[in-house]
Amino acid sequence: MHATRTPAGTARADTVGYLTADPGTKAQSAGMVSVERIAERLDEVRAATRRIIAPLDDEALTRTATPIMSPPVWDLGHIAAYEELWVCCRLAGGESRYPELQAAYDAFETPRAVRTKIRILGPREAWAYLDATRERTLEALRRCRLDDPDDALAEGGFVFGLIAGHEAQHAETILQGMALAEPGAYVPDRPGTPPAAAAPAAPERIDIPAGTVRVGAPAHGFAYDCERPAHEVELPAFRIARDPVSCGEWMAFIDDGGYARAELWTPEGWEWRTREGAGAPLHWFLDADDDWAVRDMDIERSVDRAEPVCHVSWFEADAYARWAGGRLPTEHEWERAAAGATPDPRSWNLGATAFRPLPPGTLPGTSDAGCRAVLGDVWEWTSSEFTGYPGFRAFPYREYAEVFFGTGYRVLRGGSWAAQAHVTSTSFRNWDLPQRRQIFAGLRLAWDGETT
Ligand code: AVJ
Ligand code: FE
Repeated sequence: MHATRTPAGTARADTVGYLTADPGTKAQSAGMVSVERIAERLDEVRAATRRIIAPLDDEALTRTATPIMSPPVWDLGHIAAYEELWVCCRLAGGESRYPELQAAYDAFETPRAVRTKIRILGPREAWAYLDATRERTLEALRRCRLDDPDDALAEGGFVFGLIAGHEAQHAETILQGMALAEPGAYVPDRPGTPPAAAAPAAPERIDIPAGTVRVGAPAHGFAYDCERPAHEVELPAFRIARDPVSCGEWMAFIDDGGYARAELWTPEGWEWRTREGAGAPLHWFLDADDDWAVRDMDIERSVDRAEPVCHVSWFEADAYARWAGGRLPTEHEWERAAAGATPDPRSWNLGATAFRPLPPGTLPGTSDAGCRAVLGDVWEWTSSEFTGYPGFRAFPYREYAEVFFGTGYRVLRGGSWAAQAHVTSTSFRNWDLPQRRQIFAGLRLAWDGETT
């Protein structure tokens, strides 16, 4: 990792943002931001996008396996349009190169199901749009004042963190779509498993004492509006699992009739289970010997009992927790248990390298409390519904998060093997509908604490 040098006039000592998070180094706590570091971050994200897209030919870029996903070429044009809107237009005051296409690339005006049916840029044009926009972005970056407290988009590099995070989130979404595509449709470039170094093992259930906890992101630098304002919450004592629920544990749930016993499910969950015919996590199948196997895009392999279960819906996670005599943690309990985890790809299974979850303990990361695999591996469903924190203010636009508040979305925390380190943190809030399981999501159990 690099040390961040800070040219005079570009940093505020209290500007802490993920943008500057050089994982595991002092730069993170110092929270320094510089034009060079931002440009480097934007390069890293673009390289990741290119690597993820590289295995797809033009035909594969323009189709989608299911109406719940976009054709990848839409994501490419959308990434460019978003960067252009927020940096080139809103920050720098310029014009869009394709004003007539902005509606097509607006996620709300053009929902996923119709994105294969409208006129959008083809692969070559979409890449040209990305490249031309990036040129303009770097120009805007060199001109703006990162230390201007009156320019909320520029200050602390906010808008650059926004577009970097946006591109990374869409890269993960593209991979969800590739996991749904037919076998062989996508052969990923797998840089390989990060070097193993066993994480120390705390007890399997970790006791967290009652107390006041600060949750959310600090006020300056880049974080999403829904992570703010940071505030204190009172948490009663609770216990939390050291590791996410494993595939072996999930098999025991299946064998015990977990998918067949209505009493384990909420009424909506049971209705979903019945309608969907769900009997195992998405992408699992029984092999010739009647053993559970899983397909990771192009690879079919037997399920590793030790690795975290992935591709389960909130409904399944909730039913499993009830069966196991536990519950899902609230998002604040999760954040408390994850405290101290910083997004270093050497410590956690992040960044689309392994292209699958790894058994907890493969990598050395733990939270201060001793939880393993809190970042990377799989997103973790929580019991919390997605709502605004007290004093929430939408910034820079309501459609990032606010329009989803209170509409039945559940919060996921942590990150998956497909998440990139710079958008991963203990305060990051992801969300999805309770029936969704195309996302790389599992769960970790919690229990009420001992009452004395
Ligand atoms: C935070 C992953 C739920 O994909 O809808 C992408 C991220 N926001 N473009 C989503 C997002 C705008 C968002 N999630
Ligand atoms: Fe988007």
